[in-house]
Amino acid sequence: MVNELKNIEKISIEIFQEDLITWFKAEQRELPWRKDQDPYKVWVSEIMLQQTRVDTVIPYFNRFIEWFPTIEDLANANDDKVLKAWEGLGYYSRVRNLHSAVKEVNEKYDGQVPNSPKEISNLKGVGPYTAGAILSIAYGIPEPAVDGNVMRVLSRILSIWEDIAKPSTRKVFENAVRQLISHDDPSAFNQALMELGALICTPTSPSCLLCPVRDHCQGFHEGVESELPIKTKKNSQKNVELAAIIVKNEMGKVLIHKRPETGLLANLWEFPNVEIHQPLLMDRTQITDLFKDSFDMNIMLDKGIGQLEHVFSHLIWNIRVYTGTISSDFSEGNGWKYISLDEMEDYAFPVSYHKILKLYNDYTKK
Ligand code: ADE
Repeated sequence: MVNELKNIEKISIEIFQEDLITWFKAEQRELPWRKDQDPYKVWVSEIMLQQTRVDTVIPYFNRFIEWFPTIEDLANANDDKVLKAWEGLGYYSRVRNLHSAVKEVNEKYDGQVPNSPKEISNLKGVGPYTAGAILSIAYGIPEPAVDGNVMRVLSRILSIWEDIAKPSTRKVFENAVRQLISHDDPSAFNQALMELGALICTPTSPSCLLCPVRDHCQGFHEGVESELPIKTKKNSQKNVELAAIIVKNEMGKVLIHKRPETGLLANLWEFPNVEIHQPLLMDRTQITDLFKDSFDMNIMLDKGIGQLEHVFSHLIWNIRVYTGTISSDFSEGNGWKYISLDEMEDYAFPVSYHKILKLYNDYTKK
C-alpha cells in the first residue's frame, strides 16, 4: 500500500484541499440534490447516479422526490409505483434495494438514515461508495466515496498505475482519500473530486489547462495524464436473439407479461417474447411453435415490423418484432394480462419495450 502511494508525500495536502474546495465552491453545477443536505435525498441521488449520467438523472430525481418526498413516503409506497418512477433509468435492482433499505430505515431507525459506517453499510444496496457519499455529504463525516470517476482523477493526481477494473484496487484509492480528505469540509472535498472528474478531468482529453489542482498533479508533471487510469477491458457482452410479439385478442387488447421477481429487469412488464437459439434457421412457423412450446399460446404471426438492439452492460438483445393475434383460449393470470395500449402508462416497461412500442406505433401510422 505504501509503495502505491509514494507520490502522496509530494503533495502539500492543505494547499491541495484548499485549491480543490475553493474551485468547487465557485464552479459547482447547481444540481437539485445539492439544495439541502437531507440524507434521504443524497441517498436517492447517489443511487440514481450510479451508471447514469447527471443530465439523465435530474428529471428522474425531481419526480421521485415529488412522488416520495420522505423516507416514510417511500417506505409506504406500492412496489409497482416505485418501479414506475424508475422506468427508463435501467439497473432496476438499484430501486428494489433502495426501497427495501428505506423500509428498514423507517422501521429500525425511526426514519433517520444511520450515520455510522457500520450501520449504513449494512443497508441493502449501500456499498462502500454510497456509504461514503452519504456520510460525507449529508453528515460531514470524513469517509472516502470512491467510484470510477474518483479513481480516474486520483490515478492521475497521484500517478497510480493499478488496474482500476480490479475490485481490490478501490482500497488503494480509499486509502489515498483517507490521507487527503479535508476534515473541515469532507462534503465539499468528496463532491469536488466528483465534480473535477465530470467537468475537467474527463476520461478522454482532460482539460489540464483549466485544472485547479494541476500544480499538484503528478500525472500532468510526468506527461502521462492521458495514459491513466489503467483499466483492463471486461469480457465482451453476450448476444441474445429474441422474438417479441404485439398480439391482440378479439377485444383489441394487447397481451403483456410481468417478468419474474428475480433476475434481469425483475418485476417489469414486457410483451410476449421467446429466445431464438438458432437465428439463421428460424422462420415464422418455428417462431410460432416456440410461443406454443414456451407458453402454450396459439398465435397467428402477422407481419415482422422491424428489428432492434438493446445494449446492457453484460448482454446485447437483438429483438425481432412481430404483430399478430392470439386465440381466445389464452387467459389472464400467472403474470399475463390484457390491456389497452393507453393503459400501458400505468405499467413499468423496460426501455427496450418502449422501443418496441414505438416501432409498432410508427408501423400502424403508416
Ligand atoms: N456523481 C456521483 N455522485 C455525484 C454527485 N453527488 N454530484 C454530481 N455527480 C455525481
